[in-house]
Amino acid sequence: MRVAITGAGGRLGSSLFTALSGASSVDEVLAWDLPEHDLDDPESAERLVQRNRPDVVIHAAAWTDVDACARDPQLAMRRNGTATGEMAQACAAHGAALIAVSTNEVFDGLRTDGRPYRPTDLPNPANAYGDAKFAGEQIARASFWATGDDFTAAALTPVEGRDAATPALAIVRTAWLFGPPGPDFPRKILAAAEKARSENRTLDLVSDEIGCPTYAADLAGAIAGLVELSGKYGRGALSGIHHVVNGGHASRAEWAREVLRLGGLATPTREVPLRTWPRPSTPPPWGVLETTPLPGGPLRDWQAALAEYLTNQPHIQEPPR
Ligand SMILES: NC(=O)c1ccc[n+]([C@@H]2O[C@H](COP(=O)([O-])OP(=O)(O)OC[C@H]3O[C@@H](n4cnc5c(N)ncnc54)[C@H](OP(=O)(O)O)[C@@H]3O)[C@@H](O)[C@H]2O)c1
Repeated sequence: MRVAITGAGGRLGSSLFTALSGASSVDEVLAWDLPEHDLDDPESAERLVQRNRPDVVIHAAAWTDVDACARDPQLAMRRNGTATGEMAQACAAHGAALIAVSTNEVFDGLRTDGRPYRPTDLPNPANAYGDAKFAGEQIARASFWATGDDFTAAALTPVEGRDAATPALAIVRTAWLFGPPGPDFPRKILAAAEKARSENRTLDLVSDEIGCPTYAADLAGAIAGLVELSGKYGRGALSGIHHVVNGGHASRAEWAREVLRLGGLATPTREVPLRTWPRPSTPPPWGVLETTPLPGGPLRDWQAALAEYLTNQPHIQEPPR
């Protein structure tokens, strides 16, 4: 199979490139990034799909600055909604399967019953980023004639039970990605803790925003598993909405404290509510996803993934961008 990755230089894209380069059913991995793949160019997707004829496209490119999306919802819709639709239309027209990466922010996170969100739960985005990503999901589904409830629930059905003729579209929702390159949450926390310590201050940590920290390398492995599945059982095998996150959940404060513990930093911390942290975008307070059944079993707990990440990269002192 020939597999193309958009946003190939990003956090998930670079891990995908590594994971797919070792996958047995993948002959060639194409890395599509700026300037040849441009979310602002309506012709870009069709041009690349027509030129390279991939069997599978993994659309990981996005405008992931959620606060910038809140300041410019129109541009967010162009990059995270319309461009996903254009990629879906190009893939559907040329017979390529599409794995579109989406987010827990399609949910408002206002649920109070303590249950994680499942693929069958109804999205209701509460910010411009989530709004655009959900629009992208919907246009992709329309392009692949995958608008029914059977598509929403498909990932919950074992592969053997899936109809081989189901649409060759997967929507993979994830959350709170960490991993190289660039300043992710663990790197920002380590840098902020060093700064707070040098200024003799406590570090404020948000206690009432809950999510699923997810290691990009683990997510990439799971997506590579989906690609392998389609190589083995046919493209319909990857169909459906998949929720893919590391096991467990945490508040921002719990996540940060684990980063500090693993980093050996004893900076004093204080828990604060989300409302004391004003920002243009409104994150879902309860952004927890229930992971869907995957070929390799559920991903390990986030603490184990974080420990491996910080052990492999002990000198992550890069300041925030
Ligand atoms: N990060 C998270 O916590 C998170 C959570 C849930 C879902 N997701 C989703 O997961 C996917 C991957 O996210 P990520 O964390 O890997 O993001 P990332 O590190 O910001 O990477 C995004 C990629 O998209 C590219 N890109 C940005 N603007 C573009 C444009 N106008 N045209 C073409 N390419 C453009 C970037 O290129 P440059 O680097 O050159 O700008 C980069 O390669 C996205 O679909 C995102 O919505 C992320």
